[in-house]
Amino acid sequence: MTKQIAIVTGASRGIGRAIAMRLARDGTRVALVARSADQLANVRDAIVAEALASDKTAAPMVLACDLCDEAAVVGMVREVSRHGTPSILVHNAGYGGPLQALDQVSSAEWDRVFGVNVRAAYVMLRELLPAMARDGRGTIVNVCSTHAMIGASGSAAYCASKHALLGLTRAVAAEWGRKGIRCNAVCPGYTRTDMIGAFADDPKLLSRIPNGRVGTPEEVAEAVAFLCGSGASAINGAALTVDGGMLADLGV
Ligand SMILES: NC(=O)c1ccc[n+]([C@@H]2O[C@H](COP(=O)([O-])OP(=O)(O)OC[C@H]3O[C@@H](n4cnc5c(N)ncnc54)[C@H](OP(=O)(O)O)[C@@H]3O)[C@@H](O)[C@H]2O)c1
Repeated sequence: MTKQIAIVTGASRGIGRAIAMRLARDGTRVALVARSADQLANVRDAIVAEALASDKTAAPMVLACDLCDEAAVVGMVREVSRHGTPSILVHNAGYGGPLQALDQVSSAEWDRVFGVNVRAAYVMLRELLPAMARDGRGTIVNVCSTHAMIGASGSAAYCASKHALLGLTRAVAAEWGRKGIRCNAVCPGYTRTDMIGAFADDPKLLSRIPNGRVGTPEEVAEAVAFLCGSGASAINGAALTVDGGMLADLGV
């Protein structure tokens, strides 16, 4: 049987790396996308090393690409599609920008946050959805954030972009669901990666999380793999929080 192909953005480290490793373990052929070719090659090598122990994994593709560059994104989708229509898209790459009050955010910074988090998703979806619809199957998971559901000071551009990505997720579910395509969001809370660095051990942060710890990239990857799989066949337009209970706790 032909392997499914999954495009995973932001696969060079953190949550995206864990998602790529997890999907590859299921036998999916992953297309690894980020800017740093070296780090992507490391992820590819890790997947290939696992494949030596199990013949389920298929050779990953490495595609170094700046998601803010529309022509590069279109080229990336076309390059992957030469091997077959991807049936899975995980838009995980994200950029938070510096912690700043709104009146300090430059237009260039605002555009960069939206470029990676939202516009790149639109471009990839525009390029992929017609082919997925022709195949009558496709599953998309956008990695949003708890910041897609609440506000946070110092993060206006990031919060606005993640709310937008969640809105895009729901619109795609509504518009393309009848063509066999599902589109869902995973909303991680604080997760131990480079993005939050040492903040992951901040006692004040930990006191706000009912689980008493931040999540791991692998825990987020499990939620993504679930939404990509047939076990989630009735789930479309949903937002699944993976936050250790943080949003459920009013904290009073
Ligand atoms: N960690 C958390 O606490 C947390 C919480 C909620 C939501 N999230 C979301 O989860 C996702 C993954 O986060 P993470 O913590 O794993 O982040 P991370 O460690 O900072 O990794 C970000 C990934 O995005 C890629 N990327 C950034 N800008 C890019 C661009 N212009 N073009 C192509 N790729 C780009 C990076 O690769 P290169 O640098 O190689 O390009 C890297 O692979 C993000 O969407 C983030 O917003 C994270």
